Amino acid sequence: MASYVRAEIVEEVTEGGFPIQTGTLGPQAVDIQSLYARYGLLAYDPGYRSTASCKSAITFVDGDSGVLAYRGYPIEQLAQHSNFLEVAYLLMFGELPTGEQAVRFRDDVRQHNLLHEQVISFFRGFRRDAHPMAVMVAVVGALSAFYHDDLDIGDPDQRLNAAIRLVAKMPTIAAASYTYSTGRPLRYPRNEYDYAANFMQMLFGMPNQDFVLDPVQARAMDMILILHADHEQNASTSTVRMAASSGANPFACIAAGIASLWGPAHGGANEEVVKMLMEIGRPENIPKVIARAKDKSDPFRLMGFGHRLYKNVDPRAKVIQETARKVLAHLGLENDPLMAVAMELEQIALKDEYFIERKLYPNVDFYSGILLRAMGIPTKMFTAVFAVARTVGWVSQWLELHNDGTHGIDRPRQLYVGKPLRNYPVGR
Ligand code: SDX
Repeated sequence: MASYVRAEIVEEVTEGGFPIQTGTLGPQAVDIQSLYARYGLLAYDPGYRSTASCKSAITFVDGDSGVLAYRGYPIEQLAQHSNFLEVAYLLMFGELPTGEQAVRFRDDVRQHNLLHEQVISFFRGFRRDAHPMAVMVAVVGALSAFYHDDLDIGDPDQRLNAAIRLVAKMPTIAAASYTYSTGRPLRYPRNEYDYAANFMQMLFGMPNQDFVLDPVQARAMDMILILHADHEQNASTSTVRMAASSGANPFACIAAGIASLWGPAHGGANEEVVKMLMEIGRPENIPKVIARAKDKSDPFRLMGFGHRLYKNVDPRAKVIQETARKVLAHLGLENDPLMAVAMELEQIALKDEYFIERKLYPNVDFYSGILLRAMGIPTKMFTAVFAVARTVGWVSQWLELHNDGTHGIDRPRQLYVGKPLRNYPVGR
């Protein structure tokens, strides 16, 4: 039942009745915080397509131009010149670290990358075939039980310590959720390795032999972590912020973020892309899949395609495709059938009117699964790798929300479409 807002309100909104907020980059925002108080009206925006939920200085995305920048630095430049721990420092603190700051931060992370031995016992409570994301949600949430009572989130030093603990422990937890599923003993972090290499040795190391690190794959993992570290107010980050706004324990907030990231429309898409490419199998099967993706009566979507913001190619997809090519060649897999299908699928889709009209392009998940699979990471671990990277973005946004201090609890309203008020049928 659509009726239209009275003309004077529209005029007030457009003619300065509501202040316009202007950021450093990107669209301006009409500040409608007083809309309900002044007019008894709500703004209806399911899916938040036109809503800025907060002010943030961490990540900027221009979906129309395919721009992604962490603290102003374009993702392509960070992927080429930086490393994940430096990017983590940049996201958390706002500037690239000096040499001394980088060493201090690295050592702080190394100091916290072990798990409490009682946390390790949690893994044994799961079936061996439990999905790693189910294990990670549970174990990260359980860290609240270990740190909740000695954590005052009103204290900025304690907030930072909790953030560093989460960044440090996530690879250990993710790797443990994988080794447990294979029946292998949990691997402890080894501090002679850098962050990405340590993650690789915990994933693949065996207790009965020395781990041989492949520097090309370690660099590829570092790149994957950089590209997935943050992405402004995506679904999982907004989940973390929503939980944080109530003052919830940071470990519980990040567990909520992991749960949200798991969804196939979000971080779970990388796993679905590889399943889709494997089902396609050969390029001659691509037309059938394209037809299904366009068929409105079919819930199937082309996984790894489309994005709420990017109406251009996701800049991360370009970097990952290039890295995938390099690693596949390095491993002698340049004829990887999945890569061939993916590239053919991309070419066909990008020439199809349906995808052109809707500006549907490959996103970060389209090639990441091919790269991770080539590196020996099983499909069901793909989103766990994404969660390791995105923990840096989540804790950075969590710190920003609390450091801001002006943000009360998030409490959206609704448009009620249920039954009118009615009396209980006494004596029924
Ligand atoms: C990530 O938000 C982030 O930043 C997320 C992320 C991050 O770093 O945090 O970038 C990571 O989640 C990447 C996205 C991974 N998900 C997928 O690859 C799943 C497949 N993609 C779609 O489910 C979809 O594109 C979304 C969820 C990503 C975006 O959905 P929107 O913005 O709600 O788009 P929409 O549903 O409004 O689609 C607009 C039109 C619709 O058709 P019409 O109704 O206009 O006819 O495009 C169609 C959709 O049916 N469409 C697709 C499609 N994606 C959109 N049709 C076929 N295949 C697709 N993949």
